[in-house]
Amino acid sequence: MDLVETYSRMSKNEWKVLSAVFHYSWDYKYVPSELIAKKAGMPEEKAEAIIRSLAGKRILTARQLSYYGCAFTLFGLSLYSLRRFVKKGLISMIGNKMGEGKESTVYNAISDRYGEVVLKFHRVGYTSFKKVKEKRDYGTLHFTVLTVRSARNEFRALKRLAGYVNVPKPYGWEGNAVMMELIEAKELFRVRLKNPEEVLDMILEEVKAMYERGVIHGDLSQYNILVSEEGIWIIDFPQAIVLEEESEEYSLLSFEELKEVANELLERDLKNLLEYFRRSYGIEKNVESVLNYVKGKSC
Ligand SMILES: Nc1ncnc2c1ncn2[C@@H]1O[C@H](COP(=O)(O)OP(=O)(O)OP(=O)(O)O)[C@@H](O)[C@H]1O
Ligand SMILES: [Mg+2]
Repeated sequence: MDLVETYSRMSKNEWKVLSAVFHYSWDYKYVPSELIAKKAGMPEEKAEAIIRSLAGKRILTARQLSYYGCAFTLFGLSLYSLRRFVKKGLISMIGNKMGEGKESTVYNAISDRYGEVVLKFHRVGYTSFKKVKEKRDYGTLHFTVLTVRSARNEFRALKRLAGYVNVPKPYGWEGNAVMMELIEAKELFRVRLKNPEEVLDMILEEVKAMYERGVIHGDLSQYNILVSEEGIWIIDFPQAIVLEEESEEYSLLSFEELKEVANELLERDLKNLLEYFRRSYGIEKNVESVLNYVKGKSC
């Protein structure tokens, strides 16, 4: 399904219905049509007809429960998130799909304010963050709503790191989408480095700087590090842990428990990274000493 094509065919009333669905998505797995009608300022029969039509276009999924209700599909949520960016004047044109993975779809886009940017639509909420997930009750929310949390977490981590660590500058977050700086570089795994030792040191320096800002990546790998002649960048932060005492996200974990999870993830990140450099370039480094370096315990 084409985002741009579908976007251009949407009517004002259809947007109104989507806006109402978004509004109530945190309260209902399937939002009652009655509430949608009220919020959108239209008769219930009309709202239901629009919901049916949007369901036909795979923008919503409708269910007859004890009431008639609906929820976003992932496509519908992405469409609505794009709408919010456009409405705010942040995106003027969406371009090519740069990549489609299991966890996100990444587009090139043009912003009047920021020029060429990246728009990343999240697909899953906290996949690799099972420990936290298990302790939460997500039973009452539709899964697409979790992608909003995932996007928010990525935006939040990028905000905390921008200016301190080489990450794409975060420009905005709407629904399940994050808008950020376009980095002109390639993933580490695509590149044959001439100076692998130097690059590894540069990466470790960034991991240390992240740690100092209280952020653990949680999925650090050759796929989430971009390299060019200009330097290196760390990307892909939906599962990152941001260590802040006042974190509502992890309210069911105590700060101490959260730190424990963070330490496990940091160790795993470093192991993965060192293993890649060992396998690809024969560089041997001791995990313990690297861990100590990152934590500022020694050099
Ligand atoms: N800011 C950016 N600048 C340039 N390219 C980017 C940027 N963000 C993401 N990309 C490209 O899109 C790809 C996927 O992005 P990212 O790693 O953030 O998402 P993902 O959830 O890992 O998706 P996937 O499941 O495809 O790996 C990256 O590997 C990279 O090629
Ligand atoms: Mg990735």
